[in-house]
Amino acid sequence: MKQAVRDWVRAARHIAVLSGAGMSAESGVPTFRDAQTGLWAKYRPEDLATPEAFRADPKMVWEWYASRRAKLREVEPNAGHRAIAAFQQRHPGRMTVITQNVDGLHQRAGSAGVLALHGNIAEDKWLDVPKACCDPAATVGHAPPRCPVCGNMRRPGVVWFGEMLPPAELAEAERAAQACELMLVVGTSGMVYPAAGLARTTAGRVVVVNPGESELDDAADAVLRGTAAQLLPYLLDE
Ligand code: OAD
Repeated sequence: MKQAVRDWVRAARHIAVLSGAGMSAESGVPTFRDAQTGLWAKYRPEDLATPEAFRADPKMVWEWYASRRAKLREVEPNAGHRAIAAFQQRHPGRMTVITQNVDGLHQRAGSAGVLALHGNIAEDKWLDVPKACCDPAATVGHAPPRCPVCGNMRRPGVVWFGEMLPPAELAEAERAAQACELMLVVGTSGMVYPAAGLARTTAGRVVVVNPGESELDDAADAVLRGTAAQLLPYLLDE
């Protein structure tokens, strides 16, 4: 099947990659739903990854994200990220990367135009709609920084449960899913919508790359049981 998928890659005029936490697992970044090491095995999403949680305890949530940011500064893109970026560089305009990951590793590997549907953990934004007084360069405090005038807080630039995805990125991801002839679904459990829905609405063939079962296996034309860093360099070596 691996050989057939490689042929599909060669034939496809446009390819979309939909990646999830498993894409970065071999860089040493924990996934969310792994039963032992996953972040959601240790923490409850509703305590950390919702606007309500942040308003209830901004210091605790800010510090949790700060510790994740610090760990992410120590990791590097893996062979899977690099194979994707190298393919894009050899074939400009032929591959769109859509990611649920907030770790910035696709971008650091050299991928251009990454559609980061769940934001980027390295960035912050205002919690409430900023007023004229809200200047990110003139905040006070650090966990979290606040506007000294109105008290508006900076918060991690990620999408939390119950929040909308960035509309421009989502629209572009939907267009790429519609237009592609092949979608590589790499390292996602396929449990979180609307991202997972892209694999169900694409007009192209769907290939799942995942060492374990995923909720998108039933939508796939081929399921490759292996890891991102093992399989992508082989599949994308054209
Ligand atoms: P999950 O933790 O739900 O799933 C990770 C998937 O990666 C699983 O299916 C694993 O089998 C697979 N996997 C593990 N190691 C792998 C490897 N080396 N190569 C390939 N696959 C591997 O993570 P996501 O599907 O990304 O949302 O989770 C989706 C969203 O839920 C996240 O973006 C996050 C989370 O709550 C927000 O933060 C909004």
